[in-house]
Amino acid sequence: MTFQRLVALVFLSLIQTDPFALGYSTCGTTGNYTSDTAYRANINATLSSLYTNIDINGFYNASAGQGPDRVNGLALCRADVQLDTCRHCVQRGRAELGDECPVQKEAIFRDEFCTLRYSNETIYGTRVTYPGYYYSNQPNATSPEVFNKVLRAFLDDLRIRAAAGSSTRKVAGGNVTGPDFQMIFGLVQCFPDLSSEECNICLIRAIFDIPQCCSEKIGGRVFLPSCNLLFEIYQFYNETRMKELEFVPLSPHSSPTGKKNGSMTQTIVIIVVVTVVLLIVVVSAIIFLKKREKHKPMQIAQYVDDISTAECLQYPFSTIKDATNDFSNHNKLGQGGFGSVYKGKLPNGQEIAVKRLSRNSRQGNMEFKNEVLLLAKLQHKNLVRLLGFSLEGMEKLLIYEFVQNASLDNFIFDPVWHSYMDWDRRNKIIGGIARGILYLHEDSRHKIIHRDLKASNILLDSEMSPKIADFGMARLFRQDETHGNTSKVVGTYGYMPPEYLIHGQFSIKSDVYSFGVLVLEIITGRRNNGFRSEGDNVGDLMSFAWKSWQEGRVEKVVDPILRGSGSGLTNEMLRCIHIGLLCVQENAADRPTMASVVLMLSSFSMTLNIPSAPAFYSTALIPP
Ligand SMILES: *[C@@H]1O[C@H](CO)[C@@H](O)[C@H](O)[C@H]1NC(C)=O
Ligand SMILES: *[C@@H]1O[C@H](CO)[C@@H](O)[C@H](O)[C@H]1NC(C)=O
Ligand SMILES: *[C@@H]1O[C@H](CO)[C@@H](O)[C@H](O)[C@H]1NC(C)=O
Ligand SMILES: *[C@@H]1O[C@H](CO)[C@@H](O)[C@H](O)[C@H]1NC(C)=O
Repeated sequence: MTFQRLVALVFLSLIQTDPFALGYSTCGTTGNYTSDTAYRANINATLSSLYTNIDINGFYNASAGQGPDRVNGLALCRADVQLDTCRHCVQRGRAELGDECPVQKEAIFRDEFCTLRYSNETIYGTRVTYPGYYYSNQPNATSPEVFNKVLRAFLDDLRIRAAAGSSTRKVAGGNVTGPDFQMIFGLVQCFPDLSSEECNICLIRAIFDIPQCCSEKIGGRVFLPSCNLLFEIYQFYNETRMKELEFVPLSPHSSPTGKKNGSMTQTIVIIVVVTVVLLIVVVSAIIFLKKREKHKPMQIAQYVDDISTAECLQYPFSTIKDATNDFSNHNKLGQGGFGSVYKGKLPNGQEIAVKRLSRNSRQGNMEFKNEVLLLAKLQHKNLVRLLGFSLEGMEKLLIYEFVQNASLDNFIFDPVWHSYMDWDRRNKIIGGIARGILYLHEDSRHKIIHRDLKASNILLDSEMSPKIADFGMARLFRQDETHGNTSKVVGTYGYMPPEYLIHGQFSIKSDVYSFGVLVLEIITGRRNNGFRSEGDNVGDLMSFAWKSWQEGRVEKVVDPILRGSGSGLTNEMLRCIHIGLLCVQENAADRPTMASVVLMLSSFSMTLNIPSAPAFYSTALIPP
């Protein structure tokens, strides 16, 4: 053992938050075996094989036994340690597990230098991110905000490098200069049996866990069963050894032309850019929220149902023009079917989103005012609030409250951010959307059909609570529609029910259909539009969900990030898929109303009907 490592070890034993020995055992909760059975013998054989066979790569998998007595084991050493340190660590883990988890079928041992796992289930190639085990180095960083910022960016960089590693080694280490010219050293590592994507997801999870373990600290460790990250302000790992590893040629399968590397770099650049942009969005969202709280008193008060209300809701055009920097491109948030949306700030500091309607709406000003008046009365926590309007010449503007976060599609379909969307978040979003639509359909006195429900029309506030945007557009554009102007067709392909596409009929059940598509998208993390499934030969998300449902293999449908965190699908997930399928049934009359959807989502005792085939179910695509 070198001097350097000895220092690290002593240091760690002083700082660890856990009062027990340096290594830490976690016993599984998946069940117990009775001692002195074949299972015990198989654990011993597996651990002994891991100890004997682990080689300089620092990774080994072993199994023993058959059938219900089969034990699978994995061992991973920190990439920079020498083989004898690695063996020593595995040996210690073996002894500790025997003491700490004498009857459990599954257990994990974690230590600075190695991770040891065994289970009766398949663990090879499976990402597990729970339970985590954390250390922190107690002293606080001197400039915590800058330190955190530098650390995050640095760990993201290491994460991408580690995930791109080979099937025998997924690790990256390095240093970066933090605040006050202080160096930060980091090391991240995955079990190399994970795919690159799974490694990436695991490390994202580990980075998200930093606040739990070592926020603002000068050093810390996050050990998850499938990956870990370590950082310190001193050189805690063997740099020479890490350098050697970087020169080990990658697996022979990697493309020699370097073309693959090019696209890999591109992907990395894209991921980094997306991550940075989203971080900026989230950070500015938090800042905006804080600022906004101060300006609360300026919000528009209660409405009174009289003619003067329309005047209260009308903003001078010049005010909005100034608020949006004359509709500058810099302020543009997006472009929808009805015009562009701009971010703005009123003189009182209140932030707004302004929709500049495309000029060729043929609706008269009086009718427009009446509609806005009606829509502004709709108030529900799951609807984006319409604050007012502005008119000048041909210009029509709608003024909405500004919602902090990006729209739902930016989260659930994003390769990085979807892993942030755990089941709790998704389930809450589904429930919120359902209540918002129910309010539009039944609770608001005016039966409003949205007609364009889709992921990009669901905005998320700072608490990730959903708010439906763009409702009432169909009312504002009624004239165009009755003229059958196809360029103004309301709705988005992939979310439109067959009766609308074929006969132009729209009812509240059409919204139910779009809601069903949304539910399936939220659970799968995949778009209905342009859906491709590998090997299943099914053309769209709904057919894929339906086919998997019929085969009794619904788990195929669920976003892997949701499957990985626990022991499979929960009843809640199954129920949501079931409800989603009920909503996309071909016959509009068979689809439930939003009232029963809300009831089904909240009451577990209510039995659900058996769904029939979804619309556009294309049997032709499915081999017999
Ligand atoms: C397994 O054994 C442990 C320790 O004896 C006990 O605490 C736990 O409740 C048992 N679990 C099951 C599922 O029997
Ligand atoms: C390790 O796991 C792989 C994949 O399951 C398997 O093919 C291989 O035989 C295992 N190695 C050992 C030594 O058990
Ligand atoms: C670190 O900062 C936290 C607050 O951010 C404070 O409560 C704690 O006492 C500080 N610890 C040390 C060792 O200075
Ligand atoms: C920091 O990393 C660079 C490579 O990025 C390396 O050349 C240098 O030696 C490292 N510094 C220290 C103090 O380890």
